Amino acid sequence: MTDAPRLPRHIGIIMDGNGRWARQRGLPRTEGHRAGIQTIRPVMEAADAAGVHHLTLYAFSTENWSRPREEVAALMQLFEETLQREVDELHATGVRIRVIGRQDQLPNHLQTVVAAAEELTRDNTQGFLNVALNYGGRAEIIDAVRQLARAGVDLRTVDEATLEGALYTAGSPDPDLIVRTAGELRTSNFLIWQAAYAELHVTETLWPDFGGRDLEAALADYAARVRRFGGVPNPR
Ligand code: IPE
Ligand code: IPE
Ligand code: MG
Repeated sequence: MTDAPRLPRHIGIIMDGNGRWARQRGLPRTEGHRAGIQTIRPVMEAADAAGVHHLTLYAFSTENWSRPREEVAALMQLFEETLQREVDELHATGVRIRVIGRQDQLPNHLQTVVAAAEELTRDNTQGFLNVALNYGGRAEIIDAVRQLARAGVDLRTVDEATLEGALYTAGSPDPDLIVRTAGELRTSNFLIWQAAYAELHVTETLWPDFGGRDLEAALADYAARVRRFGGVPNPR
């Protein structure tokens, strides 16, 4: 199959532009992050309404530790509060939550909330929400190789399926579409293995201003793409 199915199965979102949003309003960056959190629910609802049941949200990268200490602390606090506040409702709607990234480097409080959310929602199958927290695509590949080595796998025989099975996202379909807000034309270490053949949709809209309509626009853009996977397009 070379033509795109009309709907992505899995969308990855690089939620960028919170700082710029705050700056435009003369607010501290953390207010941009607070506003950005509010965008998540309408976007999830729009994805679900459209029939997309796998979503991966890039919330904090392995590189984001280089930000000012107060900003990092505010973000960690916000992740903890938000996860704690939203988990019951997500569970009620049948969403499975997974946090992908190096969890052991997160603050202890946050690790506890993450573990509880993952445990509570582990058997849900209506929707799949991956939150990329202290996530880096390179770190993920390194972690996968180490895990295989620890498991005694003969690394000389590793193939793509074996490596994929050891990634944080094992069991999820690859993202068909990566959306980036705030205009930068780069992937910033997000799902670098899984998104090898993803379609990219970049919008100038800053994350706190993004909404269900913008997600629908991204889906329309995706539906018009011709995916070739290295082959030739099917005649329509
Ligand atoms: C994205 O917004 C949120 C995180 C990376 C945590 P930014 O904080 O990167 O916003 P800009 O890019 O400075 O506008
Ligand atoms: C990417 O945004 C990471 C997240 C959205 C969490 P950044 O703002 O960190 O990306 P760069 O630094 O512009 O590449
Ligand atoms: Mg940014």
